[in-house]
Amino acid sequence: MITNALTDAVSRLVSGEPVAIPTETVYGLAANAFDLDAIAKVYQLKGRPEWNPLIVHIGKMEQLESLTLEIPEKARLVLHHFWPGPLTVVLPKSEAVPDAVTSGQPTVAIRMPAHPIALALLQQLPFPLVAPSANPFSRISPTHARSVDAYFGDNLMVLDGGPCEVGIESTILSFKETLPRILRLGKITRSEIEEIIGPVEVQNTTAEKPEAPGMIRTHYAPSTPAFFMQNPLEVLHDLTHLKVGCMFFREQAKLPDFVYSIALSKSGSLDEASKKLFATMSELDLGSFDLLLLQAFPDKGVGSAINDRLFRASLPMSRLKEFLKS
Ligand code: TXA
Ligand code: MG
Repeated sequence: MITNALTDAVSRLVSGEPVAIPTETVYGLAANAFDLDAIAKVYQLKGRPEWNPLIVHIGKMEQLESLTLEIPEKARLVLHHFWPGPLTVVLPKSEAVPDAVTSGQPTVAIRMPAHPIALALLQQLPFPLVAPSANPFSRISPTHARSVDAYFGDNLMVLDGGPCEVGIESTILSFKETLPRILRLGKITRSEIEEIIGPVEVQNTTAEKPEAPGMIRTHYAPSTPAFFMQNPLEVLHDLTHLKVGCMFFREQAKLPDFVYSIALSKSGSLDEASKKLFATMSELDLGSFDLLLLQAFPDKGVGSAINDRLFRASLPMSRLKEFLKS
């Protein structure tokens, strides 16, 4: 059920129940980070495997000190620069953080979200919140309260904060090694981070066993078979026997009329396109198409982060031949 009442969300969270909350990136499935039963409910609701750790959300800088063992200078610099905002840092965890939050890892992922309602909520609560994206495991992350409600219905209270401004999940930056490493691409880009702290590595996000356990290949997947490509127009003529849905980055001039297509941004704005990305993918997924073709974004700035999501949402290209007209 969807609510606008912050006080209802506060009292549920205090009583150990999960609540879906808005953030500037995507909606989160929040619960008291110090309450083992509440954490278990989050894993259960999401159907999330217990090897996949959760991000702890805070509303005040002081909370960071009590959750971590040490904060390297470079970590301080970036978080003072980007918080509140779509950046998650991975740091050595203190005893205060339950192993259930970190899946037994010695590090904890922490972020201070920039959404005014999320911040107000976090600042009222006497504990930080774990909040994975508010979707069942491996499904598309929700960027509207109604999308969360469609996933969980009466099993979950959703605090409505409007559509998420950023639309893709936070950038994750790990300080586990001496050279900081980006584990998940997001709104805050490598070059923005490097401007503040110098060189960082980017984890090969398509690795078989990624360092952020959640970064597995089949994440964010629509249930409709989807393919990620530079130019869907090139294959459309071999797909006329199927009902095809296309998601283009920007408006296309000439499209064959047997194709249903959505352009994420008329003018080709990366920010506008990323904001609409997940809701558009969900909409296409509900459209009873045989096949979805997802166009690659320009590979710069937040576009690289989006291409990473689209790659994960899709099948290997080798399987496209199963759909082509013979
Ligand atoms: O934007 C976001 O980050 C959203 C909003 C709700 O804040 N949250 C989010 O959480 O995307 P989730 O659970 O869907 O993704 C968290 C990712 C997973 O890939 C997980 O494996 C990784 O963070 N992670 C969590 N703790 C970690 C740790 N200690 N070390 C490495 N990766 C970690
Ligand atoms: Mg997620």
